[in-house]
Amino acid sequence: MGRAKRSYPPLAIKGGQPVRDRLLPYGRQAIEPEDIQSVIDVLRSDWLTTGPKVGEFEEAFAVRVGAAHAVTFSAGTAALHAAVFAAGLSAGDEAITTPLTFAATANCLLYQGATPVFADVCIDTLNLDAGQVESHITPRIKAILPVDYAGHPADLDALMELASQHGWAVIEDASHALGARYHGRQVGSLAHMTVFSFHPVKHITTGEGGMVTTNDQKLAGRLRLFRNHGISSDSRQRQASGQWYYEMVSLGYNYRLPDIACALGLSQLNRLDANLARRREIAQHYTEAFADNNAVVVPSIRPDVDPAWHLYPIRVADDVDRGEFFRSIRAENIGVNVHYIPVHLHPYYRERFGYRGGEFPVAEKAYSQLISLPMFHAMTNQDVEDVIEAVFKVTEGLRVTI
Ligand SMILES: Cc1ncc(COP(=O)(O)O)c(C=O)c1O
Repeated sequence: MGRAKRSYPPLAIKGGQPVRDRLLPYGRQAIEPEDIQSVIDVLRSDWLTTGPKVGEFEEAFAVRVGAAHAVTFSAGTAALHAAVFAAGLSAGDEAITTPLTFAATANCLLYQGATPVFADVCIDTLNLDAGQVESHITPRIKAILPVDYAGHPADLDALMELASQHGWAVIEDASHALGARYHGRQVGSLAHMTVFSFHPVKHITTGEGGMVTTNDQKLAGRLRLFRNHGISSDSRQRQASGQWYYEMVSLGYNYRLPDIACALGLSQLNRLDANLARRREIAQHYTEAFADNNAVVVPSIRPDVDPAWHLYPIRVADDVDRGEFFRSIRAENIGVNVHYIPVHLHPYYRERFGYRGGEFPVAEKAYSQLISLPMFHAMTNQDVEDVIEAVFKVTEGLRVTI
């Protein structure tokens, strides 16, 4: 009998037995013995901060994503900030980005005194809509920041074309998309600069951490300067050359990623392909299972795109109450989440820029329906089964026609 035709026990939220005894998180890291050993080795070495592991991690990462340069940062947010600096944005400049993202994608513009201009997203991928970008062009626009939502690359061909017509920099926020492919090419080699995050729920982790990749040597130089106080050499380079003298040539920050974290990143990078393969397998299980459930809509994939599946966001159907669905499935001990509250709807953005809601109807409607199901490479087959079981149980229990 198909899952949709079965009858289910009472919902946990109504006093029934939950599908799981313990909460399954929506995302989490996987740390193996070799990761631990690589960190221990660094702890016993001469360099805890900017030592040899930084360069080794950057080189291996650049090779993996097909970029000429990779520059580490203390977080994805710091990497975004540096990319906005490297692109030359400052007070009075504007950049177009998506409202359906984590606030850091827009905040990084504010850090440099620039202003985010939001444009609505495509209804299928929930990525920045190139047509909407065109309708928000002003003479002050200097850059665009597309986000590869959930791990599905944004429409980079159309966006790069628009950017080259207008002389904009393209900073791709690929925090969700390490390992994704787009039209036969790797994310990390498509935009002028591509930003990654190594937060524990991502494809690989360094605890906190981030990276910018670029094929432009000048941009790479500006990125390195920015993460080290605007100082043109680091202490290891000075030690190697026997020099003490250094100059600060622009305003920068301490956004360095330490050797301890880079050792972890290098070790994790060895398992990136396996992690991606597992995430794809889980996504396929979900998609096949939910083909049978008209209360939820699964993520769509454009032709010639291979997403990295950071998230698996479903949208509940129009006649399903997302809040009720969320509370019910949480009670089954399935750790769902919502990505994202559109940035312009946060109180800070409403108060500073006067947004009232209704400006970006596609993103706002999606927000009202989105639920991210658990998705991480260490999920067991039983975990995946539990999620599927809970989705059917809840949609049935909410008396949705399925
Ligand atoms: C789309 C997006 N951009 C930026 C960030 C910020 O990255 P980090 O947490 O490494 O600072 C995140 C983090 O989750 C993200 O999802």
